[in-house]
Amino acid sequence: MPKIYIKTFGCQMNDRDSEALLGLFLDKGYGVAESAQEADLVLVNTCSVRAHAEDRARSYLGSLRKKGTVPIRGQSPIVGLIGCMAANRGEELFGRMPHIDLICGPASFAKIPGYVERIVNEKRETKGEGRNRRIIDINDGERQENLYQSSFRADSDKAQVIISTGCSNFCSYCVVPYVRGKLRLRKPLDIIDEVKKNISSGIKKITLLGQNVNDYRYKLQAVKSQVTSGKRDTPINFVMLLQMVLGIEGLEELDFITSQPKNTSKELFTLIEKSPKIRKRLHLPFQSGSNRILKLMNRGYTKEKYLQLVKDYKKIVGGTISTDVIVGFPTESDEDFNQTKDIIEKVKFSHAFIFKYSPRSTAKSFELADDVSADIKIKRHKILLDLQKKISLGK
Ligand code: SAH
Ligand code: SF4
Ligand code: F3S
Repeated sequence: MPKIYIKTFGCQMNDRDSEALLGLFLDKGYGVAESAQEADLVLVNTCSVRAHAEDRARSYLGSLRKKGTVPIRGQSPIVGLIGCMAANRGEELFGRMPHIDLICGPASFAKIPGYVERIVNEKRETKGEGRNRRIIDINDGERQENLYQSSFRADSDKAQVIISTGCSNFCSYCVVPYVRGKLRLRKPLDIIDEVKKNISSGIKKITLLGQNVNDYRYKLQAVKSQVTSGKRDTPINFVMLLQMVLGIEGLEELDFITSQPKNTSKELFTLIEKSPKIRKRLHLPFQSGSNRILKLMNRGYTKEKYLQLVKDYKKIVGGTISTDVIVGFPTESDEDFNQTKDIIEKVKFSHAFIFKYSPRSTAKSFELADDVSADIKIKRHKILLDLQKKISLGK
């Protein structure tokens, strides 16, 4: 029985993608390897969001070669570089890392089992000698639904369900729209079916995943044949989708991530409040407390709007809030930074994920000089980490 090992970097979306892929291979008769060293197939699912994420994946890929895991190209195991860094740097790395057999971007994940089969067959035909087939697919496009068809789940009580892929918000620092493509929505009934499948296998806690869940707006025109209700002109928005999921029998707990503040609504808060099954915790990344920087980031809201949203949430729902922050965005002054600090002091987040700005060459902010020095980034990063630590400890 061939064995597969998947190494995953990056966000929850990648965790779910790796799980879905593993399921496809298990269904094909693969077993799970405990480490890359004992695998016949190693897939490295990568992230490009910051340089550090890419560096980690690159050095992991390099270590596969160094440790002698992949002694000679053409022999076992097959190595695949997949995911966001494949889309971002696939061609470059294909040239530089000859031990990689397969490069595949997020849009083509459903095709990976087929690609691997082609490589395996070719290796068999050439008895591992000579030049085997190498495959690169970094095309953008709609994902095939059969990526999600396996019932395999890593956890026995909770599961993630993807509602959309890609993003069309183009926050100026962000690589996601370039590596994951434009926003594409899964059909409401496909989402519902996947949730139902989880519930019938005993998994009753569900997290819905999208880069910005509030962007979900499925045009009913396209689902006419699936939906029998009379409301044909209104698109199914995220609040409606949540209601549909809440209506599924057996569901115990519902959660979702992420909410971009610019289109997070009171309507959503009201639904969270009145639904005992929705967890009372919200991830609401604010990124910066300076309106000037928020504008440069193309976030589409102001500090005042963000604080009002937090006020509404606390009043209507009363649950916890977590956030993401970037320090050292181009031109960020002490004054800008102090406004970010101010938000952290005011809101009292349960968690804050604090990142140092990392220029991404495809993103718009790359045009701006990365002019906040590494030392200042480190200093600001530490100030916020220390502050948040105190807040999390309730001091
Ligand atoms: N879709 C989510 C974010 C996904 S990326 C949202 O809009 O909230 C996760 C976090 O990484 C972002 O919230 C941001 O804080 C951080 N991030 C993204 N690009 C970055 C960059 N170029 N440098 C530093 N941090 C970045
Ligand atoms: Fe990136 Fe902004 Fe989209 Fe989030 S909403 S994935 S930060 S472009
Ligand atoms: Fe996620 Fe990183 Fe891609 S944050 S969407 S794995 S660039």
